[in-house]
Amino acid sequence: MKQIGVFDSGVGGLTVVRALKRRVPHESILFLGDTARLPYGTKSGATVTRYTQRNVDFLAQQGVKAIVIACNTASALALDRISPPVPLWGVVEPGAERAATLAKRSVGVLGTESTVLSQAYQRAILRRRPELEVVAQACPLFVPLVEEGWLDDPVTRQVAQRYVRPLVEHGVDTVVLGCTHYPLLKPVLRELFGDDVELVDSAEVAAEAVADSLPAVPDVEDEPRASDRFVVTDATERFERLAHRILEGNWGTLEHIDL
Ligand code: DGL
Repeated sequence: MKQIGVFDSGVGGLTVVRALKRRVPHESILFLGDTARLPYGTKSGATVTRYTQRNVDFLAQQGVKAIVIACNTASALALDRISPPVPLWGVVEPGAERAATLAKRSVGVLGTESTVLSQAYQRAILRRRPELEVVAQACPLFVPLVEEGWLDDPVTRQVAQRYVRPLVEHGVDTVVLGCTHYPLLKPVLRELFGDDVELVDSAEVAAEAVADSLPAVPDVEDEPRASDRFVVTDATERFERLAHRILEGNWGTLEHIDL
């Protein structure tokens, strides 16, 4: 059985690994975190596309049967511009699909600066439901706050309040958490948006989409299941700390590679 390759700019992509582990527990994962080049969320389309192509090529060389781009920024900026050697999924289309299904009138999109500027979510939602209103909000401070481990901290709450306020004032009824790190802030965001607003976790819906499509992906059934691998381009104590928290200790050792 071949592995599923998952890549992200950093540790946040493990939210997608966690979701995949729940949906397809029998599958084995090769995770690549391009930690040496994080953040992607402030970089240009050309640069993110170059990094994405390199990550995809690396995973394909390792013999994965399919690739999930867990990074919202890479999905938004690069998915349409790269040539995938194996079946490839991003997180934007599944997130947009779910938002378009749930929304009544107005959708809020939270993401990195580059994701919001690319308008990828806005376009993908409006393609499905042109009558909807889509308001996007870049939240550049969320990634460093999550990486600091301040998931439920007064500072994070204050920052979140500022990002969330315009969307609440706008009356959004559905909000896409359009970044790998934001599912970790769900409790704070739930509190600020209230129970009537639907929160779309892009990691969860992407894992669902992958689980639905996997049966169509060619595999080698008689090969034994490999164990999960976690590879990063810059190994740090911070990565290990957060990985431990996200995967609740359920992961192996970290390998360092130069890409
Ligand atoms: N993985 C990125 C995303 O989902 C967030 C971190 C970064 O900026 O690289 O957009």
